[in-house]
Amino acid sequence: MARLDGKVAIITGGASGIGAEMATMFTGEGATVIAADINQDALDKISENENIHGMKLDVSAEEDWQSLVEKVVNDFGKIDILINNAGVTSEKPITEINYKDWEFLSKINGFGAMMGIKYVAPAMERNKQGSIVNLSSVTAQIGMGLNSYSASKGSVRAISKAAAVEYGKRGIRVNAVFPGVIETPMTKGLKSSEGQLSQINALTPLGRLGQPEDVANAILFLASDEASYITGAELAIDGGYSAM
Ligand code: NAI
Repeated sequence: MARLDGKVAIITGGASGIGAEMATMFTGEGATVIAADINQDALDKISENENIHGMKLDVSAEEDWQSLVEKVVNDFGKIDILINNAGVTSEKPITEINYKDWEFLSKINGFGAMMGIKYVAPAMERNKQGSIVNLSSVTAQIGMGLNSYSASKGSVRAISKAAAVEYGKRGIRVNAVFPGVIETPMTKGLKSSEGQLSQINALTPLGRLGQPEDVANAILFLASDEASYITGAELAIDGGYSAM
């Protein structure tokens, strides 16, 4: 039996990077996967895999969540797993940040994750079980110069704890992961900066950047029934970066 046999999973930001890796890995483990993303072209591409159902979603729009959850329950009967993975980043120094920048990052990274829980949890509750994994970041734990992004991921960290407490007795587990620097389209700028790259590698005990499958493997465990007594946990997936 595969590790996610019979499960229905929604992965936000599922058309690129870590999300796309999870979509492929989860279907390989027997899940029905809904890759929900704002990028239609990337969705069309990932939906070429006949086991991945691409659906358009802006995580910061409540009405999008409402219709996505209705459609998934209607088409597939239930929701077992939600991965709040969609995210955007910014490297602006504090001196350049204005309210618009703050709002953009917060509404996608923080509010988006909160709305995912708000709309998906009731569908999970009907089956008295569910697993939610939220993508925070090492930048929620230590300063790395990403300011508005760090703040938005700090809110993901806090939301995860709060939701674990609120939903535990209803059979829903909520955990957060804290990736370090992972090679995806989000971090492609690093590739062109040899100095930055070697600095990160030098500061990482395992001495390399993370790959999408490093994160997907850890989330697969948290999403599965193997983690049935784990909720409110915080898992670093950063090659030891935050241990330094
Ligand atoms: P990525 O840029 O490859 O993928 C992000 C996906 O989110 C894209 O498909 C994008 O279209 C989607 N997205 C953006 N705004 C959206 C919205 N409003 N509604 C729905 N989808 C939206 O990024 P990556 O690296 O795969 O990141 C995945 C998650 O992991 C993000 O939350 C990111 O903050 C987090 N993370 C990534 C790290 C890294 O080094 N790559 C490190 C720590 C955390």
